[in-house]
Amino acid sequence: MPETQDSQDRAPPNHPSPIPDRGALPRHVAVIMDGNGRWAARRRRPRMIGHRAGARAVNLCIDFCLDRGIGALTLFAFSSENWGRPEEEVGALMKLFLNALEREVEELDRRGVRIRFIGERERFAGPIRERMDAAEASTRGNGRLHLAIAASYGGRQDVAAAARALATEVAAGRLRPEDIDERAVGARMALSDLPDPDLFIRTGGDLRISNFLLWQLAYTELWFTDILWPELDTATLERALADFAARERRFGLTGEQAGGFSNLPSDRAPE
Ligand code: IPE
Ligand code: IPE
Ligand code: MG
Repeated sequence: MPETQDSQDRAPPNHPSPIPDRGALPRHVAVIMDGNGRWAARRRRPRMIGHRAGARAVNLCIDFCLDRGIGALTLFAFSSENWGRPEEEVGALMKLFLNALEREVEELDRRGVRIRFIGERERFAGPIRERMDAAEASTRGNGRLHLAIAASYGGRQDVAAAARALATEVAAGRLRPEDIDERAVGARMALSDLPDPDLFIRTGGDLRISNFLLWQLAYTELWFTDILWPELDTATLERALADFAARERRFGLTGEQAGGFSNLPSDRAPE
């Protein structure tokens, strides 16, 4: 159904969301899966062993979201900058990625997961690109969990691509410069059909965004843990959700005004 897909991809960021609001539960969780290399180094094993162990944590995280009824999960798997790592590591990661695509897609489809990839797909080798396209096509009709894998993704590249798309439309006479506003930019960014992430999680102990979803994280609640990605367990994810539920989101307003945005269940919400 390419028509439905196209119109969804072009939908403005604040159009009615396909994911219902569940109050204290984040609708969309975005994760930087970091710490694979250090996990392996602590065991005096090659970095690749850490990446392999990390693949297990990916499954745990997806299972958790399915279990808890979280509508969207975006996982940072490989950044635009990660191409600069030693050739051997990049090659091994590509192999792991291809294996995961071959192994996991069918089961995810069966469980109602819609898979998509964001990032510069043209940088991947043909067989990987084909698998990515096929995974998206076969799971397009699913809606239980929207799973986005950020692969060869960079937040700045995402912004630049949106700027390029806008400039192209202006040059073609289809758009006036004065019509370029937040909504017009947002509609051309990755994941524009999903609500912005409510909760961002980074494992591995570093307190930074590392060129992940720069635009989309504007008002996301940030949560960091020293746990290394391969050590991820359900208890850690439960902690992230509990902390999220206890936060008050103000979106630039006063605490009093923002009462309605609070993540707290209404009986605990501030007066
Ligand atoms: C995250 O783990 C996975 C990728 C970036 C592909 P790292 O490989 O960055 O692990 P650390 O940060 O070196 O421990
Ligand atoms: C971010 O981790 C990218 C992914 C997890 C895919 P990095 O390990 O690349 O980030 P830095 O280099 O520590 O900022
Ligand atoms: Mg890292």
